[in-house]
Amino acid sequence: MKIAVLASGRGSNFQAIVDNIKSGYLSRVEVAAFVTDKPGCPASEIARAHDIPVLDVDPSRSSSRRVFDAVLVSRLRDYPVDYVVLAGYMRILSYVFLKHYPQRVINIHPSLLPAFPGLNAQKKAVEAGVKISGCTVHVVDEEVDRGPIIMQKAVPVFADDDEQTLSRRILVQEHLLYSRVLKNLSEKEMQISGRTVSFS
Ligand code: GAR
Repeated sequence: MKIAVLASGRGSNFQAIVDNIKSGYLSRVEVAAFVTDKPGCPASEIARAHDIPVLDVDPSRSSSRRVFDAVLVSRLRDYPVDYVVLAGYMRILSYVFLKHYPQRVINIHPSLLPAFPGLNAQKKAVEAGVKISGCTVHVVDEEVDRGPIIMQKAVPVFADDDEQTLSRRILVQEHLLYSRVLKNLSEKEMQISGRTVSFS
């Protein structure tokens, strides 16, 4: 199964995927291309260190989100992939991009969706006083953090947690969850019926 990974920042989820490919856990997964909207970000250094083709796409050169997404599509055309994997990619993808990969774009989010969509999910969880948060891998559609849920992992929130301590605890589970989903996608067929996702 070939994937393209899109990321904008630190890249720890990307690193975990690369590590799990190298270890053999994701033996059927290959990262065919890495794409970033933040040329030079730490995640792109991870790609270079592993000889994964890096596609730098600078948004300031595009007049709108749709134009930018069309550039992304054209750059990715040279790298046919089964799935597009968002790993801390902090831009919203428009229909212009999504129509090229129908139900084939997945994202990880640091909360139990539909709770706390959008930015600063861990901070919102601490402020809301929830006792359980977690992380979600979902199919991307045009609504931010609203697509069908593939898998989730719950993480406890402790009374003395702040945004940083909760983020760290959730991140450990993100790294495990994303690879678990990729393993499923590489070994089984994903079915989406309404909002329900299953594997067979
Ligand atoms: C992760 O916590 C991921 O869930 C989050 O950004 C972080 C990226 O970390 N993504 C979102 O909030 C998307 N809505 P990483 O660059 O170390 O993988």
